[in-house]
Amino acid sequence: ADPDPLQDFCVADLKASLSMNGFPCKPVSEVKSDDFFFDGLAKEGNTTNVFGSNVTAADVLAFPGLNTLGISMNRVDFAPGGVNPPHSHPRATEAGVIIKGKLLVGFVTTANVLHSKVLEAGEMFVIPRGLVHFQHNVGKGKAVSLTAFNSQRPGAVVLPFTLFDSTPPIPNDVLTKAFQVDENVINDIKSKFAS
Ligand code: GLV
Ligand code: MN
Repeated sequence: ADPDPLQDFCVADLKASLSMNGFPCKPVSEVKSDDFFFDGLAKEGNTTNVFGSNVTAADVLAFPGLNTLGISMNRVDFAPGGVNPPHSHPRATEAGVIIKGKLLVGFVTTANVLHSKVLEAGEMFVIPRGLVHFQHNVGKGKAVSLTAFNSQRPGAVVLPFTLFDSTPPIPNDVLTKAFQVDENVINDIKSKFAS
């Protein structure tokens, strides 16, 4: 989904003061082989949180060598029973492969049809760009997936946080009407995410 590169590479200068779409390139004289390698997905993420899951991103911010190349990856770790909550990526389609464990993977179309399946190690899924999706560890042990995106920075709209933990908050009047529940239900949900 990202624009095509105009040169072999453009290793991001994340600290540049220039503000642009993406990041400016480091001078070629400063580019090193190490700029094209990244070991950040080797480590297990900490799943001790309310969702029992952890996303480790290898996007352009973590791996500046990806700048202008239109791809990135995530590692997602799941505790038993863990959920990667419903979310969407505004800038990318997602392809994933299960590395370990058993995951229920699903996405919902713009016609509100849910497509879902339980997958095991080696099996793949695809999430069309922008659609809301989730993964749920339905196995006995931990689970791990690797996901790939056709954007250097797919972005993630994580619905629980988007709806109930924005700054400033979405007014309760909007949420009670949208979800057809009493204000106490909205306040209860908001309190779970209050940061
Ligand atoms: C999984 O949905 C991910 O975004 O890595
Ligand atoms: Mn995703």
